[in-house]
Amino acid sequence: MSVFRGPDRIRRVACLGTGLIGGGFIALFLSRGLDVFVWDPAPDAKDRLNQLLTTAWPTLERLGARAEDRGTLSWAKTAAEAVAAADFVQESAPDRLELKRSLYDEIEPLVPADAVIASSTSGITIADLQAGRTQSPRVVIGHPFNPPYLIPLVEIAGAPYTSGEALAAADAFYQSVGKVVIRMDHEIPGFIANHLQAALEREAMHLVAEGHATPQQVDAAVVHGLAPRWTAIGPCMVRNMGNLAGIRPYFERFHLGSEPLLSHLQPAEFTPELIQAMEEGCRAMASGRDNAALAAARDRMVIETLLAQRRAGLSTHGI
Ligand SMILES: NC(=O)c1ccc[n+]([C@@H]2O[C@H](COP(=O)([O-])OP(=O)(O)OC[C@H]3O[C@@H](n4cnc5c(N)ncnc54)[C@H](O)[C@@H]3O)[C@@H](O)[C@H]2O)c1
Repeated sequence: MSVFRGPDRIRRVACLGTGLIGGGFIALFLSRGLDVFVWDPAPDAKDRLNQLLTTAWPTLERLGARAEDRGTLSWAKTAAEAVAAADFVQESAPDRLELKRSLYDEIEPLVPADAVIASSTSGITIADLQAGRTQSPRVVIGHPFNPPYLIPLVEIAGAPYTSGEALAAADAFYQSVGKVVIRMDHEIPGFIANHLQAALEREAMHLVAEGHATPQQVDAAVVHGLAPRWTAIGPCMVRNMGNLAGIRPYFERFHLGSEPLLSHLQPAEFTPELIQAMEEGCRAMASGRDNAALAAARDRMVIETLLAQRRAGLSTHGI
């Protein structure tokens, strides 16, 4: 039996940092009937979280959450109080190394010994987080996608000294709340999905910077060309299905990676002209809608996509 608590022994989750990501996790955990203890030092944190929960709840209901199953939300006065009796900790503080280090210095001795501590961090590795201090085997990366109450993926990773049992416990816990988990053998900055996203963004910026496409055309190519297929299969299987004989002929005939006309390996220079073109294009696509309205429209579409994946038997997520 694992030394770390599995989903059957996780009732109370501590969430440190209640911003975009922490708040999204809180919404998800509450919808799954968990009791959530939160802490955030910002004076306006409560108002921001309440607003986020109000936005997230109809989305979660649409995906099957029920008000009568909702867990309780409690605000702690300190990080120490939030974690003292936690069965699992999700840390979503700002991505600043020194800030996170001092938070871990404070909480680690207080978190119950058999609880896993997961960091939402996008840009800091566990090895960096714990460099020069006692290396805890139970601190793992639990990297979500925004908004965490809606997008299924969580990437899990750790340093060489991270406990396999801690990673397995985090994996089981996230799956129990409906997530699709990618467990990486080792951590690299950006994990997997952000690497892919960065490559696409780099190409998008080049197309705009060189005047080949407007931001509207770039986004239309993704939304109406690439994305519908990607809700069923990823780029590897797309390539595999691009030829009746499978993926081998692709390597024999094409040299996409060495084709400078199709792929840039360096980011475009952020010139004033590029920034202006991006700003004008995005403003035109927003057509007067603020970010909340845009997020609501995005969420409606993502919900329908998740439901369609579920109906088509294409998904392993439980959202
Ligand atoms: N924004 C994204 O798309 C995204 C995606 C995946 C992961 N992440 C990661 O999630 C984490 C949080 O990012 P975010 O986008 O929610 O940022 P955010 O700025 O929206 O939220 C951060 C919250 O942490 C609070 N905070 C400040 N100091 C703190 C402290 N010492 N302890 C605890 N909380 C503190 C802030 O008041 C704020 O409410 C980061 O590590 C980030 O890399 C972000």
